[in-house]
Amino acid sequence: MRRAIYPGTFDPLTLGHLDIVERARRTFDEVIVLLAVNTGKTPLFSLQQRLELVRASVAGLDGVRVDCHDGLLVEFAQRVQASAIVRGLRAISDFDYEFQMAIVNRKLAPQVETVFLMPSEEWSYLNSSIVRELWRFGGDYSRFVPEVVRSAMDQLKGSTR
Ligand code: COA
Repeated sequence: MRRAIYPGTFDPLTLGHLDIVERARRTFDEVIVLLAVNTGKTPLFSLQQRLELVRASVAGLDGVRVDCHDGLLVEFAQRVQASAIVRGLRAISDFDYEFQMAIVNRKLAPQVETVFLMPSEEWSYLNSSIVRELWRFGGDYSRFVPEVVRSAMDQLKGSTR
């Protein structure tokens, strides 16, 4: 069983993230989408909301499950016996940060390999900040996120914005 984890904040999950999940699933028998904590971020959606949204978004995908973890990524990877950490590389601008994380994770757990996957060109410019920005200023974000996420963001309008 080749198991991989795909970690992130997913605030919110976009179609670009989903594209990576599908690509990862073609390479690994099981993919765990992992809501992990990035200490530099204060998410718009609560952990519980993000868990529900990610779960609903991947519900139709066989061999994909969702979990969360508030400790070190490699600890989780070792606990579930994952052989790989999947990260999406969209552009050269992602590289420094991703390279740094991959090296630290390798030092902590040499047996867990970081694998970079390239999303479809369609999503190479997309990130969650852009979606949140569109939401905040009343732009159309519907083409960038799964339907459940769009609906949750629509509901959030007025209450938080
Ligand atoms: N499509 C669209 N957007 C993508 C994407 C894709 N394929 N791949 C990445 N992104 C975007 C994300 O939306 C996010 O955008 P944002 O910053 O505008 O919100 C950004 O690129 C990267 O963030 P994300 O993928 O959510 O990951 P992250 O950088 O927030 O996650 C963790 C980092 C959680 C994996 C990292 O902090 C971690 O491992 N934490 C656990 C603690 C730990 O082990 N620390 C040691 C690590 S060395």
